[in-house]
Amino acid sequence: MKKLKIGIIGCGGIANDHAEMYKLIAERYDNIEVVALADIVPDRAKDFGEKWGFTGARSYNSHTEMLEKETELDGVSICTYNRQHANCAIDALNKGINVLLEKPMCVTLEEGIEMMKAEKASGKILSVGFQPRFHAQMKRMKEIVRSGELGKVYYIQTGGGRRRGIPAGSFITDATAGIGAMGDIGCYALDMVLDAIGYPTPLTVTAFKSDYIAKDPKQFGCADEFEVDDFAAAFIRLEGGVILDFRIAWAMNVNTPGDTIILGTEGGLRIPSTGCWNNGFDAMTLYKSVNGEEIEEVIPVVHQEYDCFYDKVLSFVRAIENNGPAPVPTSQIIKNQAIIDGIQRSAACGKEVTIDIPEV
Ligand SMILES: NC(=O)c1ccc[n+]([C@@H]2O[C@H](COP(=O)([O-])OP(=O)(O)OC[C@H]3O[C@@H](n4cnc5c(N)ncnc54)[C@H](O)[C@@H]3O)[C@@H](O)[C@H]2O)c1
Repeated sequence: MKKLKIGIIGCGGIANDHAEMYKLIAERYDNIEVVALADIVPDRAKDFGEKWGFTGARSYNSHTEMLEKETELDGVSICTYNRQHANCAIDALNKGINVLLEKPMCVTLEEGIEMMKAEKASGKILSVGFQPRFHAQMKRMKEIVRSGELGKVYYIQTGGGRRRGIPAGSFITDATAGIGAMGDIGCYALDMVLDAIGYPTPLTVTAFKSDYIAKDPKQFGCADEFEVDDFAAAFIRLEGGVILDFRIAWAMNVNTPGDTIILGTEGGLRIPSTGCWNNGFDAMTLYKSVNGEEIEEVIPVVHQEYDCFYDKVLSFVRAIENNGPAPVPTSQIIKNQAIIDGIQRSAACGKEVTIDIPEV
């Protein structure tokens, strides 16, 4: 069988996880090979290829050069910082290459729409890298919500974060990240609950964001470089009369902004505040009334053999083999991006804003 030819664009931190998973998949199934690597920092792609033993993989100092010269690529992982998600994805799709893109989808809604247009025109797939979706615990949570046990879901509180945990490097400047905590970890919390309830369309958002702790040199070592948000809170109205109450923090003067709770007319679900993005799960609690009695059922954590990151990359490879569909489709993630875009707009003008997602 012909092996799929894979490229990696951006050879920084998270690219290592992609490389590890492609190596595992190649060892198990002998169905792919990593043939091209690109990074704009000179020699980074070459060094990365040597580190991971991708012998024979060609390295490039820009994604455009790679896409120009590599005419047989079947798929690329895009592991660049947020501001370089849209252009790299669009350039790859325009060359007829399937894309596995790191989260968040991009920085603005407008970029997301351009990416969807390129995806549609190419006939290829763009899958966005939300690995917690592939974790057994998240699948269990989704099953419970979708089973109807909760009745009509009308209110969700979600988010998360840490008392102190502001990243550095490309995560904190506007030119590279564009958005801070909400794009880094907030998009995961949004995906967790929106996916569970079938990704209803967001309608309005009123939001606040801040950078108080990150901009204080006494509290953060790179305060003078910090240009994004370290905290965001938003009240979002979703189609179908569902309210989403969201808070996310890289830094705050409390240990957690609260658990995720999903309230329905027949039951409720409490998902302890976790780093779902790091496989950090604790037992959920289901609240029900049975014959008038108030019941609380603790649902043990479901463990799984493989890292969910492996399933994220494998699902992309399988989707290429099967000509789609995208495992984590843009038709859903554009709504996640539209909320993040709405938070930025509302925080900037200090008022509620409407969310309009153009048809693609
Ligand atoms: N899924 C996850 O668990 C997870 C974890 C960490 C980061 N991420 C996401 O991955 C992305 C990258 O994060 P990171 O920690 O690897 O950042 P990083 O800064 O370590 O790496 C990004 C790399 O992309 C390169 N780059 C930028 N533009 C490029 C271009 N046009 N062509 C080629 N190379 C280019 C940079 O030089 C850098 O080496 C971010 O969007 C982040 O949100 C996801």
